[in-house]
Amino acid sequence: MRIFNTETVDKIGQEVELKGWVNARRDMGKITFLDLRDRSGLLQVVGVPSELDEKSLEEIKRARLEYLVEMHGVVQARGAKQQNAELPTGKVEVLAKSFKVISESSAMPFEVDGDTKNISEELRLKYRYLDLRSERMKKNLEVRHTGNLFFRNYLSSLGFWEIETPYLTKGTPEGAREFIVPSRLYPGEFYVLPQSPQQFKQLLMVGGAEKYFQIARCFRDEDQRGDRQPEFTQLDLEVSFTDQEEILNLMEKMIMKLVEENFSHLKIQKKPFPRLTYAEAQKKYNSDKPDLRKDKTDKTELAFAWVTDFPLFERSETEDKLVSTHHPFTRPQDEDLKLLDKSPEKVRSFAYDLVLNGFEIGGGSLRIFDGALQKKIFEILGLDEKEINSRFGHMLEAFTFGVPPHGGLALGLDRLYAILQNEENIREVIPFPKTGDAKDLMMGAPSPLPEQALKDVHIKKS
Ligand code: AMO
Repeated sequence: MRIFNTETVDKIGQEVELKGWVNARRDMGKITFLDLRDRSGLLQVVGVPSELDEKSLEEIKRARLEYLVEMHGVVQARGAKQQNAELPTGKVEVLAKSFKVISESSAMPFEVDGDTKNISEELRLKYRYLDLRSERMKKNLEVRHTGNLFFRNYLSSLGFWEIETPYLTKGTPEGAREFIVPSRLYPGEFYVLPQSPQQFKQLLMVGGAEKYFQIARCFRDEDQRGDRQPEFTQLDLEVSFTDQEEILNLMEKMIMKLVEENFSHLKIQKKPFPRLTYAEAQKKYNSDKPDLRKDKTDKTELAFAWVTDFPLFERSETEDKLVSTHHPFTRPQDEDLKLLDKSPEKVRSFAYDLVLNGFEIGGGSLRIFDGALQKKIFEILGLDEKEINSRFGHMLEAFTFGVPPHGGLALGLDRLYAILQNEENIREVIPFPKTGDAKDLMMGAPSPLPEQALKDVHIKKS
């Protein structure tokens, strides 16, 4: 049975079966040294002619970089001088007894035996499957798995259910432009991909789910930046019968435990996380996502902070109208309700952001659960009766059927993992990201479609 490279360390004297890629090759006279790489790490393999049959010897001779090979051999301890403290398997090596090439490799477009950070990103993204072979990228994949598993276990243990919501839907107006999907069955009609599961998670609360979470893909057709992708992942959650304090405490405890258990080399600068109102943050730092690190060169410092009490509305940058600061389902603070009609811009909301080292890594709010108030907010946002009914009729109707007060939050997992992994760009922690200009260089997307496909979905006349 094949074992991982790192499992050889406690198998000295035993015969083992290994499979992996040739990471490096050194020939010293008749002896061949190979560094074999698999998901677990590197292992030195030694090929000595006297130990190998003729066929195996031929195979080991032709094994080049990134060839995939399989072998049997005996694990032996390395002499004190030959040990390599940098490798987890540095105290052992495997003496090959049989050897076979499983699959050859073309010449590599770039080397993957070191950090690929300095390779052109275009090349890395075109050959992402090769880039992922490198140690750092593999670690980033693993961290996503470990983090996601942690969140699932943690929230499940608190009674949350993981519930999937649709990707083909009608938009949630949260500010960003949406990706649209033409309907084949209904000419001239469209689905959109959700910017977030916002409306569904609120409707789940109406449905009695009480505690929901989801590791959800979100889609936003926005201009790209280092911390933005057209599709990205949220840890999305929603709770019924809750208040702001409960949500902030829940998140805070969960994130502290994530860091303690999985990123113990990092230190959280201040616990509990500092809290600032939006007004305080603007006044003191002129920002709603202040970077509170004491030493910005210290790569192990994590400065979390909550920013609360966001204004419910802000002035649109492009038109003369009010837009929601978070989204239109955000609940105004009770004591500011009286200001809604006369000075809506002064109304504070129960909306909060979680900030880490100057990045917004999460945001959420308590929600409106009263149909009349929700309708009023839509009106303040400039929607007429017809628009309100066609876009949000389902929400207003749902709010007539016994609605629990509810609230929640979504963490941007890509941003969180990027910061925890000390990566400057979220693309580094996304297995198959789009480029800065929203292209998938590996698959070649977006791409034109055959005429017929466009006719089928009624984008072109047949
Ligand atoms: P919001 O729009 O603030 O809230 O998104 C929550 C978090 O998602 C991350 N994020 C992104 N990450 C990568 N690329 C993007 N384009 C991108 N856009 C957002 C950020 C952000 O803090 N439905 C609400 C949540 C709620 O109210 O419960 C929502 O989506 O880290």
